[in-house]
Amino acid sequence: MTDAPPVTAQQLHATGLVRTYGTGPRAVHALRGVDLVARPGELVVVRGRSGSGKTTLLHALGGLEPLDAGTVRLGDTEVSALPERELLRLRRERVAYVFQSFGLLPVLSAAENVEVPLRLRGVGAAERSGRVAAALDAVGLTPHARQRPGELSGGQQQRVAVARALVTRPTLLLADEPTAQLDSETAVAVMEVLVALVRTGSTAAVVTTHDPLIAERADRVLELHSGRLT
Ligand SMILES: Nc1ncnc2c1ncn2[C@@H]1O[C@H](COP(=O)(O)OP(=O)(O)O)[C@@H](O)[C@H]1O
Ligand SMILES: [Mg+2]
Repeated sequence: MTDAPPVTAQQLHATGLVRTYGTGPRAVHALRGVDLVARPGELVVVRGRSGSGKTTLLHALGGLEPLDAGTVRLGDTEVSALPERELLRLRRERVAYVFQSFGLLPVLSAAENVEVPLRLRGVGAAERSGRVAAALDAVGLTPHARQRPGELSGGQQQRVAVARALVTRPTLLLADEPTAQLDSETAVAVMEVLVALVRTGSTAAVVTTHDPLIAERADRVLELHSGRLT
């Protein structure tokens, strides 16, 4: 159970996603019936203003947040119906997530953070170190491999988070504004890394952004307005 197999049926298929926070007159309708498909080898960009529902959508796609209505399928698996235990396994083995807040472990070095998902998948030590080195190199962080997140800039932490996501070669990559902290040159470089992963043909990616440069690299660009895709 190392890499997800390059199966063509592994597409992400979300239909009718609804997510409401709170109830009554103060309810916030974060998602109001979102449909989305992402196939292996495809990079889908979701653009939208702050508050339009991007983070909620990615959480829903990754099974990180409950839905009020709708279904999320990844290949034959109905993500939105999985019991917690199965969901954890799916996330560990097939889904990678770049959080807006990075979600790095503060006591681990950059390299150790990138290694975590490979350990969880039971990848052997020799293969782990090779893959970690390659992932850090891809995001230009080799010289900082031994530093902890607190010793890195926001942009460098963001790149560690990207390296940690791509090192597993996931079936599904969900990235929440992965270039927000980066200068435009680094942002383009990081996007190239994501595009290269998707182009291997076994990963489908959904990336949120409000950076027009990023959207240029997408196969499809969807706009999210107040919880609806257009
Ligand atoms: N945990 C929460 N509780 C209540 N409201 C929330 C919560 N998370 C997000 N929201 C609201 O849902 C809407 C969409 O938020 P979000 O998905 O974070 O948008 P974006 O990522 O596009 O900025 C916003 O109005 C936000 O305030
Ligand atoms: Mg957000």
